[in-house]
Amino acid sequence: MQAETRRARALYDRLAPRYDRMEQVANWLLLGRLRRQVLAAARGRTVEVAAGTGSNLPYYPPGMRPWLVDVSEGMLRRAVEKGAAGRVILADAEQLPFGDATFATVVATLSGCTVADPLRYYAELGRVCRPDGRVLLLEHGLSSWRPLAALQRLGLRRQLRRFACHGDRDAEALVRLAGLRLERSEQRALGVLRLITARPAAG
Ligand SMILES: C[S@@+](CC[C@H](N)C(=O)[O-])C[C@H]1O[C@@H](n2cnc3c(N)ncnc32)[C@H](O)[C@@H]1O
Repeated sequence: MQAETRRARALYDRLAPRYDRMEQVANWLLLGRLRRQVLAAARGRTVEVAAGTGSNLPYYPPGMRPWLVDVSEGMLRRAVEKGAAGRVILADAEQLPFGDATFATVVATLSGCTVADPLRYYAELGRVCRPDGRVLLLEHGLSSWRPLAALQRLGLRRQLRRFACHGDRDAEALVRLAGLRLERSEQRALGVLRLITARPAAG
């Protein structure tokens, strides 16, 4: 495990008791709706990577019970309290403990910004996804509106310190570079948020 991943794990272990409260307003204003939109396409055997406290659980289509992976035990403990018991796996997203093409759907939200090596991360998401399956992502980055992007840049160092979050990553470019096939990408909130559907290259 990379040193940066160990740092993120320690940080999210500390944030875990407060994470849901910190997210509450954003979820209520916009994120909740986007989570539901992204997850509407989830089908079959599903894994959610860097799943945190299980913020997405209420937004999955009825009856779906995804596996949840995260590197932070503290975050996963909260997910278990929300009903994910028996389906959580403590693991590094850059080295997923699954065989190739295991899942019909691979979900990851607001996490491509926190992993140490995003190329390796997205490649792993593609590897564990079946060739006919889908990788469903909700990511954030710099706005496509330049004045807002300039403002965001001022907060990048603080974001990295507080949330291990690289707020200027270009998720679409990274997904492509990692060898996945970008099927769809939609911008929300002036391009700060992206809903992305990708497929493994061979699919
Ligand atoms: C900003 S939180 C997002 C949590 C959740 N996906 C959500 O939408 O609210 C980022 C999560 O990524 C996890 N994470 C960071 N690096 C990771 C890695 N290498 N492997 C697995 N999880 C990781 C953190 O522990 C944290 O739970």
